[in-house]
Amino acid sequence: MTSGRSKIAVIGAGNVGATCAFVLAQMKLGDIVMLDIFEGFAKGKALDMSQDAQVLNYDGNITGTADYADIAGADVVVVTSGFPRQPGMSREDLIGKNAEIITQVGTGIKEHAPDSIIVMVTNPLDLMTYHMQKITGFPTHRVVGQAGILDSARMTHFIADAVGCSEEDVQAMVLGGHGDTMVPLPRYTTVGGISVDQLLDEETIAAICERTAKGGGEIVKLLERGSAFYAPGSAAAIMAEAIVQDRKRLIPASAYLTGQYGLDEVYIGVPIILGSNGVEKIIELELTEGELSSLQGSGNFYKQQLSELLGY
Ligand code: NAI
Ligand code: 2OP
Repeated sequence: MTSGRSKIAVIGAGNVGATCAFVLAQMKLGDIVMLDIFEGFAKGKALDMSQDAQVLNYDGNITGTADYADIAGADVVVVTSGFPRQPGMSREDLIGKNAEIITQVGTGIKEHAPDSIIVMVTNPLDLMTYHMQKITGFPTHRVVGQAGILDSARMTHFIADAVGCSEEDVQAMVLGGHGDTMVPLPRYTTVGGISVDQLLDEETIAAICERTAKGGGEIVKLLERGSAFYAPGSAAAIMAEAIVQDRKRLIPASAYLTGQYGLDEVYIGVPIILGSNGVEKIIELELTEGELSSLQGSGNFYKQQLSELLGY
């Protein structure tokens, strides 16, 4: 960091990475470097965004590269490199190809941005976050996964639609893994401070939880090629913002558990405080037996996948 401004690196200049970079520029957070295995792809998008700087009133530098030396000094590295799923695929179907990419990317980050905080986005999210932590050897609080902001934002959208209110007034909470085992928590979901169950009936809430859990797949099916990127890219940018501005945001995110919720040695979505040190605290909510067993089921599913598919 030479300018005194924050520096954020975004690995993968595809749909999610480029959207994240664009939102970061709109947030005016600092200098942004996009790295992609296809150098021209990253450079071209960076130049296009740079030519938007006057319109965005953005004074930072946006650059594209394929060289890890250019991410040196990054405060935050957002990792979006990897294959997205196609219709008919689960996020877990991506594991082999994406694990290889994360090995390569993690090695580059470890060498060139050893003090950074990593925000993972690549799917399958909870598994790739774990793999990244192992490859870099970073302390677990410096590797965190984005999923909970996106999944909660999806639930928020469906609730605002059903209630007929502003999205701004909804506070939704979704925990667990970023996949079919995710755990939407209507009991911790409010609208203008009012518990959602006072505004919507049980059946509507259950349908919203179901649609939230399948929210990514709904978009994959509609797009027919690739997966969602506007909301995912923005969600990753919000996490980068929380870190570089030390905002201490209380958000759901994939964090490494060491006994919380009866789970350990696994990354899974839980409420955290996110600030300049990364995951600064894991919040342990009081859960009903059913909620806890869903969360533990999700965590144990990923533990099994870590051992069966990644050999951990
Ligand atoms: P995309 O295909 O548009 O972009 C991926 C980019 O990664 C491409 O530009 C590709 O050239 C680059 N790349 C591939 N291998 C690389 C390497 N070794 N080094 C550097 N760059 C490399 O895909 P998209 O839509 O941006 O999705 C990216 C990932 O994010 C996927 O795994 C997707 O499943 C995941 N995702 C995760 C979400 C979450 O909430 N955690 C939400 C949405 C997507
Ligand atoms: C999503 O939830 C595919 O993980 C991606 O949209």
